[in-house]
Amino acid sequence: MALGVTALCCSVWCASAAAAADDADIEALLARMTLEEKAGQLNLYAPASGALSNPALHIRSLAEQEADIRAGRVTGLFNGAGQAAKRRAQQLAVRESRLGIPLLFAADVIHGFRTVFPVPLAEAASWDTDLAERTARAAALEAAADGFHWTFAPMVDIARDARWGRGVEGAGEDVLLARRLAQARVRGFQSGEGGLASTAKHFAAYGAAEGGLDYNSADLSPRTLREVYLPPFKAAVEAGAAAVMTSFNDVAGIPSNANRELLTGVLRDEWRFDGVVVSDYTADEELIAHGFAADGREAARLSFLAGVDMSMQSGLYLLHLPALVQGGEVPAARLDEAVRRVLRLKKRLGLFEQPFRGLEAPEPAARPEHRTLAREAARKSVVLLRNQGGLLPLPKAGLRIALIGPFADEADGGSAADLFGPWTLFPGRAAPVSLAQGLRDALSDPSTLKVVKGSGVNEPLPGGIAAAVSAARRADVVLLALGESAQMSGEARSRAGITLPAAQQALAEAVAATGKPVVVLLRNGRALALEGAVRDAQALLVTWFLGLETGHAVADVLFGDVSPSGRLPVSFPQAAGQVPYHYAHRRTGRPLPPQDPGSDFKTRYIETPNEALYPFGHGLTYGRFDYEALQLSHPRLPWGGTLQVKARITNRGAREAEETVQLYVHDRVASVTRPVRELKDFRKLRLAPGASAEVEFTLRSADLAFIGRDLQPVVEPGLFDVWVAPSATQGLRASFELAAP
Ligand code: BGC
Repeated sequence: MALGVTALCCSVWCASAAAAADDADIEALLARMTLEEKAGQLNLYAPASGALSNPALHIRSLAEQEADIRAGRVTGLFNGAGQAAKRRAQQLAVRESRLGIPLLFAADVIHGFRTVFPVPLAEAASWDTDLAERTARAAALEAAADGFHWTFAPMVDIARDARWGRGVEGAGEDVLLARRLAQARVRGFQSGEGGLASTAKHFAAYGAAEGGLDYNSADLSPRTLREVYLPPFKAAVEAGAAAVMTSFNDVAGIPSNANRELLTGVLRDEWRFDGVVVSDYTADEELIAHGFAADGREAARLSFLAGVDMSMQSGLYLLHLPALVQGGEVPAARLDEAVRRVLRLKKRLGLFEQPFRGLEAPEPAARPEHRTLAREAARKSVVLLRNQGGLLPLPKAGLRIALIGPFADEADGGSAADLFGPWTLFPGRAAPVSLAQGLRDALSDPSTLKVVKGSGVNEPLPGGIAAAVSAARRADVVLLALGESAQMSGEARSRAGITLPAAQQALAEAVAATGKPVVVLLRNGRALALEGAVRDAQALLVTWFLGLETGHAVADVLFGDVSPSGRLPVSFPQAAGQVPYHYAHRRTGRPLPPQDPGSDFKTRYIETPNEALYPFGHGLTYGRFDYEALQLSHPRLPWGGTLQVKARITNRGAREAEETVQLYVHDRVASVTRPVRELKDFRKLRLAPGASAEVEFTLRSADLAFIGRDLQPVVEPGLFDVWVAPSATQGLRASFELAAP
């Protein structure tokens, strides 16, 4: 079936006037559809894989699924479908179903497709929105060339509890950074020919799960919801995200998948979102498990009326919507509205003209230029936490290096997944570069590198520590590759404690006891609480899950081919018991003296200082940046006006490096207690040794808005502090007054 208006203009989601004006064809199509066909357009399934079905798990046999497609009972398939399966399914839809409406092919394209880029949290550490846009674009091009149309990304959930495993999929703890990355990723996925429709997920407050336990209830104030958790979604919607996915959790007792206040009140009525709302995987059916709906029929009705247009995997909409409409429990107009949105999405993706887009050519390989991008992204994601005595960078020759740890060499009985991290569903054939491989490729004489595993991820290895200690003794420097496996973060992978497994800690203690200089290469999907020899190592690099080019990128940084430039998108606490932990906490009533508005006002635990071990925004380089001469253009910011905040940044180190200069503010007195600091802007700056630059930020009075007593944004005159800073707890401070109107 071909609809009148052609495919893609500048973007896959060009909700242009032209496209909207031409929706007459969609109306004509809608008029021809039966109730069941309409419900079918709202029914998304994972592809069937074999001859067997399992109704309890919603697994359909191939024969059943093909019958569904022929009957127009399926709108699309997600994940797992290879090209041939997609082609066959599309043929059935287009050629054998009564109306010939093409299928949508969706997938979790989270951090790359064939080419695996760093996990989103790692990439957030680059604080580089242009990079995030380019990797999203590259992933979209590869996925679209394989016949996919729609990605279930970006995840824009704020994560302030490091126990929560899904923090690895997002942008960390900060609202501004998350908003900017959400927009960049949406733009990247959706821009240009051959992009994908994108999905902001999981709406809403999924990251606020109590205790950091995945799927748990989120019980948070409407103020925090609006001030912290919703803004990245709004940003994604403003950037044109084609879809929004619900979350599994309830928010203060109302499951998100049936939360009319959020899905219709906020998303549609306030933000005017006109794309598709899709449930998370069987989230409609889970209303029964939540104890919110008595049965599938009620679950479908509540979800649909709350504002969820499309049901993922449960089949409940297909099963119940026709009868609910016939029985008058669901207005026919609501059904038409949801179907219209789905058809519009298909039309804007060009599916009516090109249903076989990406399915006609043979399966594409990863693009070589994306491999270069993967290395760039990985290098920029590495964060140098500590570099005592300038141990790094290391020379490429003349040093005996021992690389020790469970993540030293995946080629040696490890798992490639531990280089990729979670949500890598479609990796290409090229093997990812392990640390050992990357170092060997970089060293003048690869035989100067000794590699020893020393320990499993969670279990000691027989004789492992002895072998590691003997290798360390014979080396000039030890690189300890420690951390979390891919299995330890991601969906349903929350941790009760965020320390390193005991076996690895024991390995680190034994190696450090040799007295050799130690560089820790941390692999992680979250902030960790570092202890003992790991915390005290001479140098510490956070390498997250960096993807295909892990080893090369880490070697680039270790040997100084590039200066590290990453900054923490999540605070690293002193102790596991401090979580949830984030820098932008509110001031309390019992500040510690001195009463300096710029100091951390929070009370403390008996055992630990309350400061972060490494705060949000922290990251060292091989340069040495001095911040000087903070200047405000005026001591008063006029109401509705702007203020320039300037500082001079000088690289007094001996190497060129990139600094991320951050702008924070604090509101001294307000009608609602305010955070000790909030990030308002940042800028990246590359400076040669000895070079200086003036960095100038513009603060608008609108930047000082917060969610007031009535839950509406408000700006209040008064005194503010402002910092130009290298992290959330340092920097130069000045103050200004926001004038009354
Ligand atoms: C996850 C979503 C994902 C979906 C489809 C769910 O379990 O929460 O993020 O998009 O599965 O794979």
